[in-house]
Amino acid sequence: MAIRLGGGPLPQRSHGCHPRVDCAAVAPLVSLSLLAVDADADLLVRAQTLALRLGCSVVTDTSAISGDLALRLSAQRLELLDLSGPKPVAVWADFITGRFGYRLRQGYGRRQPLGRAVGAVNHGRPRVVDCTAGLGRDSALLAALGCSVVALERSAVVAELLADGLDRARLAGTVPGASAADARVAETIGRIQLICGDARVWLSSPSSGQSADVVLLDPMFPQRQKTALVKKEMRLFKRLVGEDLDADELLEAALGSSIPRVVVKRPRGSPPMAGSRKPSHGHDAGVTRFDVYL
Ligand SMILES: C[S@@+](CC[C@H](N)C(=O)[O-])C[C@H]1O[C@@H](n2cnc3c(N)ncnc32)[C@H](O)[C@@H]1O
Repeated sequence: MAIRLGGGPLPQRSHGCHPRVDCAAVAPLVSLSLLAVDADADLLVRAQTLALRLGCSVVTDTSAISGDLALRLSAQRLELLDLSGPKPVAVWADFITGRFGYRLRQGYGRRQPLGRAVGAVNHGRPRVVDCTAGLGRDSALLAALGCSVVALERSAVVAELLADGLDRARLAGTVPGASAADARVAETIGRIQLICGDARVWLSSPSSGQSADVVLLDPMFPQRQKTALVKKEMRLFKRLVGEDLDADELLEAALGSSIPRVVVKRPRGSPPMAGSRKPSHGHDAGVTRFDVYL
């Protein structure tokens, strides 16, 4: 399998709460240090296991970080850190707090543009394969609609960030005394299966059509117009794994699979992706649009 952008394949693994690796994942473009914060013995073991999987080195002091991009593991969470500016900027997967956590706790309506685009209004709870999982927001919104979601992410680092966010959400909703809202979010998150690997490989498997009713694609684009949070995240992702310059191939793999519905998230006002077929229709959603291929 072709490994993109100079990244080498990472060791395969499949256990515990970590993302399942079914095929080679993309290694970061830059070498990363893993900063273990307030490192007690348990955290240090976790940091070392994670560093081994990602091929990075563990440091316990900020001054030992080489480069201006790093991972930080604390008892609270795993974060991607940008140290290039005057103040460190951190990005992590979060399904519990902030505006997105609130949105998930409130429940997500089938009649929202994403729900309409995947056919959740007329076809109940379609099984979705999210081929560009990133930090899992779209996967979580789909899971909140009751869809089962296979979330595919080819960057091993991004997949670890997502796995950490999913684990924290599951834990918050299952500890004794968890609120009903947190329990609901944990149930939602339980519908997501994270796999680290290239979606083109997954889509080319003959059994893909039996596993999903809808493909969702949200590749990175140079001209994306997004909220401040997503802009910050995308800037960091671009430095980490580059741009998704092979997004057209991913669309062709989706259109060529036996999965009958393909949904592509695009910046509103931009043309549909160049593909062998034109979308059947689209759903506007604020600064984005969902193009639907039937
Ligand atoms: C724009 S982000 C997706 C954001 C996501 N929709 C969310 O809600 O958080 C695009 C992600 O897709 C991943 N990606 C791009 N092409 C892929 C492929 N062929 N297979 C798996 N992941 C891919 C990138 O590594 C990146 O993390």
